[in-house]
Amino acid sequence: MTDPPAIELRGLSKRYGSGEGSVLALDRVNLSITKGTVFGLLGPNGAGKTTLIKVLTGISDVTEGEGSVAGFDIRRQSLEVRARIGWVAAEVILDDDFSGWENLWLQAKLQSLTGWEDRAHQLLDYFSLADRAKDKVGHYSTGMRKKLEIALALLHQPSVIFMDEPTIGLDVGTRRMLWDIVTGIHREFGVTVLLTTHYIEEADALCDRVAIIDEGRIIAEGSPSELKARVKADLVQLETSDGVDVRALSDLPGVQEVRSQGNEWVIRVASSEEFLPRLFARVPTDHIRRISVEKPSLETVFLDLTGRRIGQDEPMRDVRKFYMQMRRARQ
Ligand SMILES: Nc1ncnc2c1ncn2[C@@H]1O[C@H](COP(=O)(O)OP(=O)(O)OP(=O)(O)O)[C@@H](O)[C@H]1O
Ligand SMILES: [Mg+2]
Repeated sequence: MTDPPAIELRGLSKRYGSGEGSVLALDRVNLSITKGTVFGLLGPNGAGKTTLIKVLTGISDVTEGEGSVAGFDIRRQSLEVRARIGWVAAEVILDDDFSGWENLWLQAKLQSLTGWEDRAHQLLDYFSLADRAKDKVGHYSTGMRKKLEIALALLHQPSVIFMDEPTIGLDVGTRRMLWDIVTGIHREFGVTVLLTTHYIEEADALCDRVAIIDEGRIIAEGSPSELKARVKADLVQLETSDGVDVRALSDLPGVQEVRSQGNEWVIRVASSEEFLPRLFARVPTDHIRRISVEKPSLETVFLDLTGRRIGQDEPMRDVRKFYMQMRRARQ
């Protein structure tokens, strides 16, 4: 028999408020997250990521649809769900005046845990915090604080752990350390991890599977490589000198489309490696002011689906418009 999924959602919707001015934050979401995976929910601001976590953890109620976590119904069995989940929130939850050990003790009290001490020692060892366990948390580094927050979330041995934007605001080094921790805890403690992020590279580097969410809807789902394989083209962006017309390049092998706006060109090609030598053979380099290549990434998947970029709110640039037009053309 196969294991039930760690998280399952069927037609789940969440509306804040009612009538005019209400917000549909989740719109008929279907998701099935396999046990033992690191699953990423990637989307721009306001997409509904935090709302999804709130609904799964029982903080927000469901407007419509069904959901289960660790095999328990999120509406009818919320206590069972809570006993099996850990949550690392984006906000700070540690008490600075308490030591690391005292924070663990407080967490154990809040959750009415018994016999938690062995587990606490194990976690402190695992996160290399044992020799600082008696120091006040106020004296910890950012990385140490993050480790302790994760230790608190793991104290009651949850089977699913939620992390809402776990690396937001962290410097690159600490972010990398946290990535290692996430993959580590998932291996060491066998937990399923659901994390939200709007960092493309984070979803790509860390997650076995990714769901891209936009305006409350899951618009794509798959492993990062499956998702990237959907965009089967490189985009070459070119700025030429005045009066240079490169439209004729569409005759070259592997060129799928050439679009322009003034001196700026977006050329959609099967392979930029094969295209660039051909381009330079046809267009003298002193006619090229600027050139860049965009390889398929989770960002281009989002761009392809929505015509917008994740985490960027400025007006659409050529490439985005290009994608929007491509998308319309395909419909
Ligand atoms: N308590 C609330 N009352 C009313 N509307 C809300 C509430 N919380 C969230 N929303 C709205 O629901 C939508 C989804 O918000 P949510 O916080 O889930 O997005 P998010 O993907 O987590 O965004 P961010 O990346 O900014 O954290 C937004 O339009 C938001 O304004
Ligand atoms: Mg959020």
